[in-house]
Amino acid sequence: MERPQPVEVYGILLHRVTAERWGLISKFKARPDDLLICSYPKSGTTWVQEITEMIQYGGDTEKCGQAPIYKRMPFLEMPHTIVSSVEEADALPSPRRLKTHLSVQLVPASFWEQKCKIIYIARNVKDTAISYFHFHHMNKTLPDPGTWDQFLENFLAGKVVWGSWFDHVRSWWEAKECHPILYLFYEDMKENPACEIQKIANFLGLELPESILNRIIQHTTFDNMKSNPMTNYTTLPSSVMDHTVSAFMRKGIVGDWKEYFTVAQSEKLDDISAYKLGGTGLTFRTHL
Ligand code: A3P
Repeated sequence: MERPQPVEVYGILLHRVTAERWGLISKFKARPDDLLICSYPKSGTTWVQEITEMIQYGGDTEKCGQAPIYKRMPFLEMPHTIVSSVEEADALPSPRRLKTHLSVQLVPASFWEQKCKIIYIARNVKDTAISYFHFHHMNKTLPDPGTWDQFLENFLAGKVVWGSWFDHVRSWWEAKECHPILYLFYEDMKENPACEIQKIANFLGLELPESILNRIIQHTTFDNMKSNPMTNYTTLPSSVMDHTVSAFMRKGIVGDWKEYFTVAQSEKLDDISAYKLGGTGLTFRTHL
């Protein structure tokens, strides 16, 4: 399959198929009890999706095992010819759980109008960039990343699909001031999953007995999600995601960036982060 080139929508690069259906996506009708799970790509979205479903299903692993995650939770801006779609979401009964990687300004207006709850998951920029680089290799719907150096340049310039990481994490951070958004960090989830799972349950207004909490922690460890075909994306055809190139569930750690970044690249990112996120109060941990 030839890799499609992304297209700009309001200045942000998106998949061609997203751009082609933008009219439909932007007019998406959110319902007040929709839950939107949102992130910049490779921030731990799938992890939060599975945890959230497990909480809402009271720790019932069978219910979560009924279908691959991308079937259970439509990916708003991706058409069903690849994974899922707006039409698929329209057909779902309430309450719905939906996934998006859209930045604040591109999220369909109905989500704000309906005051839908949103869970945002963010991950430090260095590990996100590395994970995204590997993901470009295995995900044939994304452009060829070139070398690591080339990819990093494009990533820093926001010239990758879903745009600038800095603008994404910052605008969602600011959006939580006037909207019900639970802003989570991948590093916190690695450090203390029980605490972060409890936060999600509280945000959803659900009780979480200790036995169920422990079952959720166990079910959503990296190793268990990596070996679970309902969460590891191996059910997609290899023409879309080729796991022999790089697994979707690749390493699942904090600090993998140290294997790839030069000292100069690391310092450059620190400088850009300080400049772009300065004054926001938003900080990230790059190791635990
Ligand atoms: P790596 O490529 O660094 O391994 P997303 O779901 O947003 O695409 O994010 C994918 C990243 O989250 C991958 O990172 C993947 O391994 C990691 N991940 C997924 N499930 C995880 C889990 N249960 N625990 C830790 N990391 C997880």
